[in-house]
Amino acid sequence: MAENNPTLRVLGIAGSLRAGSFNRALLRAAQELAPEGMEIRAFDIAPIPLYNADVEAKGDPEPVAALKTAIREADALLFVTPEYNHGVPGVLKNAIDWASRPPDQPFNDKPAAIMGASPSALGTGRAQYHLRQSCVFLNMHVLNKPEVLVAKAHEKFDKDGRLTDETTRGFVKKHLEALRDWTLRLRGGPR
Ligand SMILES: Cc1cc2nc3c(=O)[nH]c(=O)nc-3n(C[C@H](O)[C@H](O)[C@H](O)COP(=O)(O)O)c2cc1C
Repeated sequence: MAENNPTLRVLGIAGSLRAGSFNRALLRAAQELAPEGMEIRAFDIAPIPLYNADVEAKGDPEPVAALKTAIREADALLFVTPEYNHGVPGVLKNAIDWASRPPDQPFNDKPAAIMGASPSALGTGRAQYHLRQSCVFLNMHVLNKPEVLVAKAHEKFDKDGRLTDETTRGFVKKHLEALRDWTLRLRGGPR
C-alpha cells in the first residue's frame, strides 16, 4: 500500500481463458464484494505466450512485462484457480512461470490468497494445494483461512456469470477481509 494511498491494491489472476469461466466469474464476484479500502484489478493472462527460454533470452514479451509490473505494483495477489487433473491449469502455471524468472522475481514477499470454483464436489481443493507449493517456493505469503472452495459451481452462478449463492458470497467476503488483515499484519499494521 503506497503511503499516501490508503487503498489496498490487489491483483486478481484467474486461471481460465474461457468467456463463461466460473473462475473468471468468481474473480468478478470478488471485485464486487471487496471490502472498503480494497480494490481488485483483474489481470488477463490470455495474451501470455507459452514459456520459452529462447524467447525470454531476447527480452520479456510485452504481456509478460505487463504482468510482472502489475505484480510488483500490487499490495497483494488473489489467484482464482480452476482444477485440471487435480492440479493447476497450464495457462495459470505458465503465467506464473514467466513472471517467476530472476532477477528480482516479483512474487517475492507478496501476500497472496487463493480461491477456486469447480462443478465437482471438491471445489478445487487439490489444485489449491498444488498452487500453494509454487507460492511457497516463490516466497509468497499465502493466507491459510478461511478457504473458498466453490463446489458445484454450476449451481452457484446465474447464466450471466453472477455469483448468486448467498453462502458463497459470504465466504468470499470473509476471505477478502482476511486477506486485507493479513496484508496489513505482514506490514506491521493493525490486525
Ligand atoms: C483438462 C481438464 C481437466 C479437468 N480436471 C478436473 C479436476 O481434476 N477436478 C475438477 O474438479 N474439475 C476438473 N475439470 C473440470 C473443470 O473444473 C471445469 O471445466 C471448470 O468449469 C473449469 O473452470 P472454468 O469454469 O473457470 O473454466 C477438468 C476440466 C478440464 C478441461
